[in-house]
Amino acid sequence: MSDSPKLGVQLAPRHDRGLALSNPVMLASGIAGYGTEYAELADIEKFGAVVSKGTTLMPRAGNPQPRLVETASGLLNSVGLENIGVDALIREKAPVWAEWGVPVIVNIAGESAEEYAAVAGKLEGVPGVAGIEVNISCPNVSAGGMEFGVEPALACGVTSAVKSSTSLPVIVKLSPNVTDIKEIAIAVQEAGADAICLINTLKGMAIDIDRRRPYLANSAGGLSGPAIKPVALYMLYEAAKVTGVPLIGCGGIVCARDALEFIMAGATAVQVGTVGLSTPDICPDVLGGIEQFMLDNKFGDITDLVGVAGDDPGG
Ligand SMILES: Cc1cc2nc3c(=O)[nH]c(=O)nc-3n(C[C@H](O)[C@H](O)[C@H](O)COP(=O)(O)O)c2cc1C
Repeated sequence: MSDSPKLGVQLAPRHDRGLALSNPVMLASGIAGYGTEYAELADIEKFGAVVSKGTTLMPRAGNPQPRLVETASGLLNSVGLENIGVDALIREKAPVWAEWGVPVIVNIAGESAEEYAAVAGKLEGVPGVAGIEVNISCPNVSAGGMEFGVEPALACGVTSAVKSSTSLPVIVKLSPNVTDIKEIAIAVQEAGADAICLINTLKGMAIDIDRRRPYLANSAGGLSGPAIKPVALYMLYEAAKVTGVPLIGCGGIVCARDALEFIMAGATAVQVGTVGLSTPDICPDVLGGIEQFMLDNKFGDITDLVGVAGDDPGG
């Protein structure tokens, strides 16, 4: 009888404490809020890690409704970082997470590098918080958010500011709305990112021809779901060529095959997003499929699959 394949991954090998996950399938930011309600719909502890909704220094109401519309194989959202603010998160949510057996990573956002650093600083030493994911890629806010993710110097500035205000492992989440993903990936790695997540949503819109108006109150939004998977995969593959820190693949993953594509492109872990809105209990399917693939193809350790599609066949 063959042994079960090893699924554990390390997201922050260069960090003192590291960020060890029991498996590579994470729940993406914005899908489960703070995870507490989601935990009633699915076994949240099956995920390798859970990423919370984007959190800012002060609470935010988000954008006006409607802020979600379905498109072909995708979803447009303009939620706009609605959140309870970091103080309420520390008071009300982190104590719940501290009881969970799954690491929770707090996704943070801000309108300035100082705000990002202040949010990260407040999370220092809070039980229940295993790491920080820096969202420099939100397309749905008027100030901050994506601006930091499209300019290497700004991306570097935010990453350095967060790194110097926390001892937690720091993941930086990149925007696909750029000309060259490689230069942003290099910038955040040089600024000290422990890992890099690619990608956030692609800027897009839809128009209701009967009302002759955009569907979303905010006009434009961020496109997610299967429609963006080839773009996300390409960006991860490109980033893998120029970086040495662990990469996390995100964008349109709905099944094990999708997850394996990202891992073979160079991802150490993956995040499932939009699919989790309709199928909260998606993790066992994705994970079970990965495990079956490994058994069928005689891979004993998931890390042996990372980047195999990126190897130069010529040696
Ligand atoms: C409704 C919704 C809210 C989101 N909120 C956030 C957020 O707060 N912070 C963030 O970094 N990404 C956020 N995202 C982006 C997702 O985490 C993910 O990067 C993106 O949706 C692509 O993955 P997917 O195609 O699997 O959904 C949100 C996505 C959706 C659909």
